[in-house]
Amino acid sequence: MASVRIGIIGLGTIGKAHWKVIRESAQTTLIAVADPTPSALDFARAESIPAYADYREMLENETLDGVVVAVPNAEHVPVALACIERGIAVLVEKPVADRVETAQAMCKEAEGRDVPVLVGHHRRHNTAVQRVRQAIRDGLIGRPVTATVMYNQLKPASYFDLDWRRQVGGGPVLINLIHEIDLIRFMFGEIHSLQALSSNAVRGFAVEDTAAVLLRSQSGAIGTISVSDTAVSPFSWDLASGEFDLMLGTSDRMKRQKVSTHVFAGTEGSVTLPTLDYYNYRDVAEPGWRSDLNAEVLTVESTDTYLRQIEHFARVIRREEAPLVSGLDGTRTLQATLAVTEAAATGQTIILSE
Ligand SMILES: NC(=O)c1ccc[n+]([C@@H]2O[C@H](COP(=O)([O-])OP(=O)(O)OC[C@H]3O[C@@H](n4cnc5c(N)ncnc54)[C@H](O)[C@@H]3O)[C@@H](O)[C@H]2O)c1
Repeated sequence: MASVRIGIIGLGTIGKAHWKVIRESAQTTLIAVADPTPSALDFARAESIPAYADYREMLENETLDGVVVAVPNAEHVPVALACIERGIAVLVEKPVADRVETAQAMCKEAEGRDVPVLVGHHRRHNTAVQRVRQAIRDGLIGRPVTATVMYNQLKPASYFDLDWRRQVGGGPVLINLIHEIDLIRFMFGEIHSLQALSSNAVRGFAVEDTAAVLLRSQSGAIGTISVSDTAVSPFSWDLASGEFDLMLGTSDRMKRQKVSTHVFAGTEGSVTLPTLDYYNYRDVAEPGWRSDLNAEVLTVESTDTYLRQIEHFARVIRREEAPLVSGLDGTRTLQATLAVTEAAATGQTIILSE
């Protein structure tokens, strides 16, 4: 099986995570990178990888099968379109775009040219996430009733040195909560409607630092999500799942927190992430609070989520698989996430789909 030729545009935090797995996998070869910052160019050149300050030059000069687009949110669509117009498949980081209209225009262009688009909702490639989805589909929790999701952690002050992270659109709703929205869609299906509150009271930036969401899925299940980048807590996917270490490429940097951040509960049982605890009533006369709950742990092989994602991208490029998160799928997640901002600003319930 031939290795696919990949370029990276945007060699910042997540661009470097892609760099690591592209170089690790036998299915992908890193051909070149593009980023205007001298430190990124030096980083690549130190490893003898061709580096361009202007991504258009990279696209002109290199032969690429696929490009990872890992630039700030507002640049996703123009950069991805430049690739699509040249027939190059894209793995575009989440959010797929900063506006639904531009995301839809990009998807239309990609469809017209038959160029695959994969959106970087990497968690869908996580084996624990896939195990829970399968458990729900197999009926282990019965009819889904609630999703309870926490993403509360402290981002260090230096994280906000980059100006775009202090501006509207650069905060935890579009950066972090979007993953939770996508995960709930992945587990329970499309979202019917939502309500939200947000606050910038602690950091005082233009962008929010905290938000809470109440949502209803089309199936009738109800979900709650709290998200904050200013609360000291282990209850966040980044700290509990181990994926953050994969992203930084430094497994000894942070102690992984053994806590549950997600509970999916139904009429027959409940299951947690990333801990994979499973609770139900088994062989009891009358299921209910006076009976013993059976507790067990679902098992799954844990692997590098970003590696699984890039290898899926290689198969998408070879047309062996359809994108697990297509451009339109990523657009629906974006739409629901932007609805959170609208709901918080207006105090209204936003109806997404009947
Ligand atoms: N899936 C994930 O786990 C994950 C994690 C973090 C960030 N992200 C997403 O990735 C994107 C980047 O986030 P980040 O935290 O890596 O940001 P970052 O600021 O660390 O990196 C962005 C990089 O893009 C470069 N850049 C900006 N404009 C460019 C252009 N026109 N051409 C080439 N390079 C350009 C910058 O110089 C910088 O190096 C965001 O959309 C974010 O939402 C995804």
